[in-house]
Amino acid sequence: MLALSVAAAATACGGSSAPPAGGTGGTATATGAAAPSGGPKPQPYANLAQVMRALPFPSSNIIFDTQTHNPDEVKKESESGGGATATFAGVYKGWPLVEHSALALAETANLIMIPGRKCQNGKPVPLDQPDFQKAAQGLVDAGLAAYKAAQSKNQEQMIEVSNTVAEACAACHEVYRDTPTDADRCTPKAK
Ligand code: HEC
Repeated sequence: MLALSVAAAATACGGSSAPPAGGTGGTATATGAAAPSGGPKPQPYANLAQVMRALPFPSSNIIFDTQTHNPDEVKKESESGGGATATFAGVYKGWPLVEHSALALAETANLIMIPGRKCQNGKPVPLDQPDFQKAAQGLVDAGLAAYKAAQSKNQEQMIEVSNTVAEACAACHEVYRDTPTDADRCTPKAK
């Protein structure tokens, strides 16, 4: 089955935890690095839906697209001119763009976990919920697995990891996004 779009919700919560891929330059520890003194502090500037639309949505679609298109060939099709937007959209392309998109998924987890962010309906992002935390970690794991797969440039691996990514999104969305009404989003399930 191809993970074609983000809307395709997988039922299973893929509780997989792939080991972090090495070689990304610098290994994050479980405790994280100490914040530097000075400079802007991590803080939210957007609601969660805006972060989702800006980062994991386009990034995951670049990953999903490799199931049916070889990124090296897409590159050739779009090499014609067409103004600054087209030119700069084409600077990072091919398999490197897939790698960067995979890493962007893992980095998105950092943004998700910044304290103080609200969801679109005004509720706080449920950072203190264990299932939400687990789903955020699942996004890190899926992003790193996709990074490894992109480095292999292997379509079979991309199809497999696309499902891993789709499941990582769905694990969180099933509880906190795809609720009967938008007002119920970001609400912990009654125990
Ligand atoms: C840890 C939880 C979590 C993970 C993981 C997660 N999301 Fe989300 N996502 C949410 C929540 C909660 C919302 C609703 C946010 C709001 O209403 O402000 C949301 C909303 C969205 C939206 C906006 C929908 C709208 O209302 O327009 C998109 C797009 C989206 N997510 C894509 C993704 C993709 C793609 C992935 C995986 C690569 C992903 N998300 C992973 C929690 C998550």
